[in-house]
Amino acid sequence: MADTLAEIRALIADVRTALEDESARGVIAEFGDEALPESIAPEPAPEPTRRTRPVVASSWARIADRGREVAESTALVGAAGLQAIRQDLGDCRRCNLCTGRTNIVFGVGDPTADLVVVGEAPGFHEDRQGEPFVGQAGQMLDRMLLNVLGLERREVHILNVIKCRPPDNRNPLPDEVAACMPFLDRQLEALQPKVILVLGTVALRALLGDDLRITRARGLWHERRGIPVMPTFHPAYLLRNPAGKRDTFADLKAVGVRYQELGGKRSKPAPKF
Ligand code: URA
Repeated sequence: MADTLAEIRALIADVRTALEDESARGVIAEFGDEALPESIAPEPAPEPTRRTRPVVASSWARIADRGREVAESTALVGAAGLQAIRQDLGDCRRCNLCTGRTNIVFGVGDPTADLVVVGEAPGFHEDRQGEPFVGQAGQMLDRMLLNVLGLERREVHILNVIKCRPPDNRNPLPDEVAACMPFLDRQLEALQPKVILVLGTVALRALLGDDLRITRARGLWHERRGIPVMPTFHPAYLLRNPAGKRDTFADLKAVGVRYQELGGKRSKPAPKF
């Protein structure tokens, strides 16, 4: 009985804290049409997995500098680097997805962006327009970037693991991921971001390890080739599961703090993180 009362008290305290944070709630609701259900208590923090190594703040700048040095020593960077990679990709026939595509969706955004967002694969609208994240999930992504990080779409760079639309939007097959990965790797080298935001399971596994699960890996800092990586839920998942917005909001806040610490560029004053 005493245990139950203590649990109820803890739950009430959690709910009160969540309700008191009015500004945060407003922004979370801005992600989409539905506000968060008021009664959900925050889930317990996930245990770090084998590959999730939280890194102390002071070492991030060093890690980012090291990543940049490696990239600069081996490849063209920025717009010139991206142009060279696009040329090498050509009219790609490296996997079967080429047979059903309208356009190769290479990526979009500032070639000097300090934040790179990596999604899964083009959908119908992306295939038609040749640009990542232009459908409903893209609109959600734009709101996430603007409302939480204060960054316009044009200020970041947006990529997908897969450059051609899988039929019926199915998950990409391993050989399709394998065919595209060298190009994504080179794009990341050319871009040398200070922070990478990874959206959803496919991108998480492609970039950080195929044994990872988004529910456990999100919200924790990872590292890839010297660059800090934050995984979070895919916006398409949030459209179907609005309750996940609370976690994504927290993940984006962490990205905002790290971005600021590392001197990430922005055209407007930073929001309060
Ligand atoms: N989902 C993705 O992962 N990428 C897109 O470009 C569009 C939807």
